[in-house]
Amino acid sequence: MTTPIVAFLFLLLPVASLAAGPGGVPLRSAEVDITDQASLQRGARLFVNYCLSCHSARYMRYSQMGKGLGLTDDQVQDNLMFAADKIAQPMDVAMSLGDAKRWFGNPPPDLSVVARSRGADWLYTYMLTFYKDDDPARPYGVNNLVFKDVGMPDVLWELRGIQVPVYGEAGDAHGAETAAIADLALQTPGLRTPAEFSRDMRDLVNFLVFVGEPAQAKRHRVGLWVLAFIILFFIVSYALYREYWKDVH
Ligand code: HEC
Repeated sequence: MTTPIVAFLFLLLPVASLAAGPGGVPLRSAEVDITDQASLQRGARLFVNYCLSCHSARYMRYSQMGKGLGLTDDQVQDNLMFAADKIAQPMDVAMSLGDAKRWFGNPPPDLSVVARSRGADWLYTYMLTFYKDDDPARPYGVNNLVFKDVGMPDVLWELRGIQVPVYGEAGDAHGAETAAIADLALQTPGLRTPAEFSRDMRDLVNFLVFVGEPAQAKRHRVGLWVLAFIILFFIVSYALYREYWKDVH
């Protein structure tokens, strides 16, 4: 009886996801720390100012965010709540899904669990690698190293400045040109220095990792119940099977 159960449990193990950027773009390390409340507070400020106009974080309530960030309800209301009027409301976005589709083609996804699905390093690299792309097919004149042909405008260009691609000596053995981007160079400086901007993005990603945590805890709880149910079901059906076949064998 134990062998089939063990084999069965192995089937339930989640498959480890691979943390590599597409096209071999090396991911930059975000080194987030969700116990760093000052960083989370700075990240929350960036998020409500620059992201919440398009993206929701629906699984996070303002009150819950305040607790996690070590802020009082009043502090949250005065500094971080522009898109809602009640502290118990989730971090929703005013834009309707219809408008979002019309304006962007792909509607901006909810970012509650994006740190779980993409990983912190991917997010960090994504935020740092928007660059100017003069291809007329690009609606906002920008592209991204880890999200090719991204539908999101470069909403932080004022802070970061404008980056342009630096092409490497790419080409295969037959001399075929495959212009590959080797690096990005800052063409027009932004309001923040590159070091400051990197820190800002670390704070922002840190906040998104924090936002993903409560949802993750909830998912784990539901997952455990499902698992318990499956195991119980398996034991019962195995017992039944033995019962039915005991006289036949
Ligand atoms: C003007 C609207 C707008 C704003 C503001 C905006 N985004 Fe986006 N974002 C989008 C759209 C549209 C997409 C979908 C892109 C696609 O699928 O091609 C997107 C996609 C993303 C994705 C990829 C999600 C995934 O897994 O596919 C991330 C991460 C993201 N945005 C983060 C942010 C962050 C962080 C901010 C704030 C700094 C922000 N966005 C501000 C419109 C916006």
